[in-house]
Amino acid sequence: MAFRNQQSFIDLLEKEGELLRISSYVNPHLEIAEITDRISKEPGGGKAILFENTGYEFPVLMNAYGSERRICLALGVSRLDDVAAEIEGLFKLLSSPKEGILDKLKLLPKLSQFASWMPRVKSGRGECQEVVITDNPDIGKLPVITCWPKDGGPFVTLPVIHTKDPNNNIRNVGMYRMQVFGPALTGMHWHKHKVSAKHFSEYKKLGKRMPVAVALGGDPVYAYSATAPLPENVDEYMLAGFLRKKKVDLVKCITQPEIEVPADADFIIEGYVDPSDELIWEGPFGDHTGYYSLPDWYPRFHITAITHRRNPVYPATIVGIPPQEDAWLGKATERIFLAPIKMTMVPEILDMDMPVEGVFHNLVITKIRKEYAGQAQKVMNAMWGAGQMMFNKILVVSDEGSSITDYRSLAQYISANLDVASDISFSQGPMDVLDHSCSKLGFGGKMSIDGTRKMEEEIRDNAVTPSDTPMPGADFFTSRFPEISTVNLSLLADRISCMIVSVRKQRPGHIRELHQALAALPEMAQVKVVLFVEHTVDAGDLTVALWRFCNNLDPKRDNILVQRNNAVACLGLDGTMKTREFDGFQRDWPNIIVADDDTIRSVDDKWEGLGIGRFIASPSLKFKDQMYGQEAVAETPGR
Ligand SMILES: Cc1cc2nc3c(=O)[nH]c(=O)nc-3n(C[C@H](O)[C@H](O)[C@H](O)COP(=O)(O)O)c2cc1C
Repeated sequence: MAFRNQQSFIDLLEKEGELLRISSYVNPHLEIAEITDRISKEPGGGKAILFENTGYEFPVLMNAYGSERRICLALGVSRLDDVAAEIEGLFKLLSSPKEGILDKLKLLPKLSQFASWMPRVKSGRGECQEVVITDNPDIGKLPVITCWPKDGGPFVTLPVIHTKDPNNNIRNVGMYRMQVFGPALTGMHWHKHKVSAKHFSEYKKLGKRMPVAVALGGDPVYAYSATAPLPENVDEYMLAGFLRKKKVDLVKCITQPEIEVPADADFIIEGYVDPSDELIWEGPFGDHTGYYSLPDWYPRFHITAITHRRNPVYPATIVGIPPQEDAWLGKATERIFLAPIKMTMVPEILDMDMPVEGVFHNLVITKIRKEYAGQAQKVMNAMWGAGQMMFNKILVVSDEGSSITDYRSLAQYISANLDVASDISFSQGPMDVLDHSCSKLGFGGKMSIDGTRKMEEEIRDNAVTPSDTPMPGADFFTSRFPEISTVNLSLLADRISCMIVSVRKQRPGHIRELHQALAALPEMAQVKVVLFVEHTVDAGDLTVALWRFCNNLDPKRDNILVQRNNAVACLGLDGTMKTREFDGFQRDWPNIIVADDDTIRSVDDKWEGLGIGRFIASPSLKFKDQMYGQEAVAETPGR
């Protein structure tokens, strides 16, 4: 279903009881983010919020995609799986044998439907150009939010960024945050692996200025499409047209006429990036991982015009400690891209899931139809070569014997099938720029866990059958090892052979020694995996412990395998923070993202006047004690 514009989406949200309006004043500096964090972490993702009184001319829309229902409304489907099924149907139709003329003729209606979804460039101006500002355009007139206290400044967080490959004129539409530095200057935070970063290097080679245009608002499908990991040279507006079942109408920008933008957008920010400019020190920014991404050098974006429709709404999002709205954008990608992965690279894949604790790439679970030995490793190789799946850190492969979404029974199944000495593969490759655990930016370790039922060829000759030695209680461990703060034995009690230990690391090699000492205990004979997290993390809080663990682990660097006589092998994985002093780690280590006391207090004081129902306490309160230092954005590696 196509929306005429963002306003008709807002109207639908309201009609469906999915929108909160706040008419009292809320400051875009930190307060909008704090209120959104409280609402979006409510069970089911809360509601979308329209902040009508921002002290600026324009209202701000937040959390519009932040639940299963709202992402479906935005994409105009009743279930995300329907999109995947439709894509699979299309692939099958196109690839099935076409013997006779009749078979070929049957394709024609589909092909003409295809054509009707292709973007079209209209002549003249669009709604997005009802108001045109070319003299001294000032992004400071837009209610650009500052999300977190240690952010480098205000950031545009839902920008739909348009660039073109200068060699073939093919468009890319991507979402890359923009830090505001001045009335006509922002950063352009495209990571080195992303398509617009590639366009940038092409312009650099040619010594030419790079025209760029940024759309905000319009049909909500645009922002989703900008985040979708489409192959380079596939236009995101084809995906948008397919999803909304209507072509996207584009118009030429006014000061950057090489670039076309959606006619129905709320705002367009036109400008250019000059590859001969000095880069700008961008960040920090409270990011998807739940940690700050630390400052780095990125291109400058010079604004040449701002245009907007009459009565536009400024859309934004916050990212931070999960769950957040971005989890639903990620869920849509997980569901929609299952079909292309299956049809092009991994035909045995039946399903996949990216748990929220893994913040997209860190943890991906797949379920396959297994027919031969080594198939999990074949899937691993294919997945790590599939587009942005290259950023995946931990890949779990299971099979038809398991349910992929019932995590408890899945973990039991995998645990029963797992011999950690032979079923875990370590590798290395490109990693997300946001991954702070890598010793080098954007390059690090990966791990795949083969939790499938084993075939004869896959069973080691000297494999040991697990014993059912009873486990002692947590006191047994904390009394013997004073560095251990908390132990989670609940998984073991549930027939999942994994324990979580939070530990105060005090010297180089400490986690290795501790793991070896633990694994040598006869009481540990049944334990296959020990996950270590730092002492500030409560090992008993499974969700938080897993989120911290997945972020902090470089699996290739941080694993300790202990082979034991008469007991199964035991793998330790060090998910604690890394420092130069104890780990030889040379990069700064970012802090987790927590709201500051002043903002929490001011929102507490305002809450009743917001008229949005019962008081919700700040989610940040739970994490205050887990920060490395209240004031620090990063821990220096020397600590
Ligand atoms: C809210 C949000 C913000 C994002 N910000 C960035 C960013 O600042 N830089 C970046 O490289 N990717 C960012 N991403 C991820 C990209 O949008 C995503 O990888 C997309 O597929 C990139 O498009 P491309 O393949 O055309 O480069 C963000 C995603 C979301 C959902």
